Amino acid sequence: MPALTVLYAILFYAATALLVGGVGYRSWVYARTPQPLKIPLTPAPTTRRGVALRMLAEVTVFKSLFKSNKWIWLFGWAFHVALLAVLLRHLRYFTEPVWAWVALIQPFGIYAGFGMLAGLAGLWARRFLVDRVRYISSPSDHLMLALLVAIAASGLAMKYLAHTDIIALKAFFLGLLVFSWQELPADPALLIHLALVAILMIVFPLSKLLHAPGVFFSPTLNQVDDPRERRHAAGWSARLDTRAGAQGG
Ligand code: HEM
Repeated sequence: MPALTVLYAILFYAATALLVGGVGYRSWVYARTPQPLKIPLTPAPTTRRGVALRMLAEVTVFKSLFKSNKWIWLFGWAFHVALLAVLLRHLRYFTEPVWAWVALIQPFGIYAGFGMLAGLAGLWARRFLVDRVRYISSPSDHLMLALLVAIAASGLAMKYLAHTDIIALKAFFLGLLVFSWQELPADPALLIHLALVAILMIVFPLSKLLHAPGVFFSPTLNQVDDPRERRHAAGWSARLDTRAGAQGG
């Protein structure tokens, strides 16, 4: 077995473990973090169903971003929708046979590669062109954008400039899933694309990209606006409530 195959196999096992373990751990910490006060961003829903609908509008059409800034919304939303299409298109490398709906979206997925780049370009330009955004931009903001741009560019390079052996690549990933390693094609564009993806998976739980699971834990979005109907108990007040309940008071 070539050393390169062994290296990438170990890299992807490690990256997957760190991604799953890291996001799981961070979500567990978020879930346990107290929400001492009722702070839903008003106007806020007064029922749990309403909160679910609000969250749905946030994560599908980025509703509050749309209200606050149309340019960031345009580029940010375009990037995320394109990313979703690209990721769904990639499912063909991990299932045999390829699911019918994954085969169906293949042509859209390829335009999504360019959509992703356009969205990222807009978001990155803003960090240079808007003074107050440039002022608060840290190296990690630029690095995450650079990483995503490089992943998209190396992916598109494989599509249009230097093809790789997709059948062999698929055999490699299906092999990883069942612990039967197959040789990985040693094309530079592919090796770069995969190395960058592994880096993305590893830094994900340590980076700002955690906003993806984090949005669901945001108290301004996930709280029901019902402090007049229900007592909001958290931290010491919840403990007092339990004690009072135990004493029958
Ligand atoms: C282990 C995971 C991945 C594998 C095996 C993989 C493999 C590939 C391959 C073989 C291509 C060329 C497609 C073709 O020639 O038709 C490609 C394209 C591409 N990849 Fe990946 N990739 C992975 C993860 C990712 C991730 C996480 C992203 C985004 C963050 C990404 C973004 C892209 C883009 C934008 C393209 C060009 C558009 C397209 O073909 O859909 N890839 N990838």
